[in-house]
Amino acid sequence: MPLIATIYCKGTGGSTTTALALAAIAPPAWRPVLVECDPAGGDLMRRHRLAPAPSLVDLAAASRTRHADTIEVFTAVERQLRLRHHPVDLVVAPPSGAQTRAALGELTRPGNTTLTHAERLVVADCGRWDPGSPVRPLLAAANVVLVLTRSRVEELTHLREHLADLLDLVSGRLVVLLAPGGTYPPGEVADAIAEYLAGELAADPAAVRVTGPLPADRRAAGILAGDLLPGRRWRRLPLLVSLSRLLEDLAPALTGPVSAQVPDREVLR
Ligand SMILES: Nc1ncnc2c1ncn2[C@@H]1O[C@H](COP(=O)(O)OP(=O)(O)O)[C@@H](O)[C@H]1O
Ligand SMILES: [Mg+2]
Repeated sequence: MPLIATIYCKGTGGSTTTALALAAIAPPAWRPVLVECDPAGGDLMRRHRLAPAPSLVDLAAASRTRHADTIEVFTAVERQLRLRHHPVDLVVAPPSGAQTRAALGELTRPGNTTLTHAERLVVADCGRWDPGSPVRPLLAAANVVLVLTRSRVEELTHLREHLADLLDLVSGRLVVLLAPGGTYPPGEVADAIAEYLAGELAADPAAVRVTGPLPADRRAAGILAGDLLPGRRWRRLPLLVSLSRLLEDLAPALTGPVSAQVPDREVLR
């Protein structure tokens, strides 16, 4: 079953919010679960005032002792966040980066398939990207890697710095998801990236897809951060609508084997 990883390069935030929103609006039949894998430590425990356990640490421990492919590994440690009446399954990371990185060490160990071959959609919030990040194996195994970037010159420069490395790791499965508040339209960003890929990296210009921008939606962000209560129409909020469309567009890449997926480079919306 599929794995979506969200990351960002220096500058842009929005990884946790976007990952949680994707898990919240994914079809229940996919049994989506958000797993906080940010090597800097988790935020959702504090934001939603959840008890410190169970967490990613317990998922790592359960994955060592049980058959890693089974759903039981998750059911033992996940919990549910309720957005109105809608349950969102979560495995939260402890706020401590050191504890989270130790858990990630186990969960990304060769042979540990808990996150990469779960019998459900795993949305992994992998936090800020760094070439030495312990989430490297997760990105390598993901069906789709969403890189959040604001279309501003300084943030696009940071993305460019990491592009060759990311391409090596996730070629054909990399989607640049423009965050709210950028300067350049998505078409221009897509063209600039394609030019860079073809010119500087001698890579296929279609290897990276550009989509977005996501709307700035303080209400949805506030709900997902535990600061606001969701109203009856929380799914109709602009951020959720935009991410539902993205998920629809990504659906083909989430169903086949990873090797079969080479998304087209296109500006979706
Ligand atoms: N689309 C959005 N619109 C408005 N605010 C957002 C949006 N996405 C994230 N935020 C806000 O930006 C801040 C950082 O978001 P977060 O998801 O925690 O970033 P990260 O996980 O990358 O550090 C939070 O206060 C969050 O509520
Ligand atoms: Mg975060």
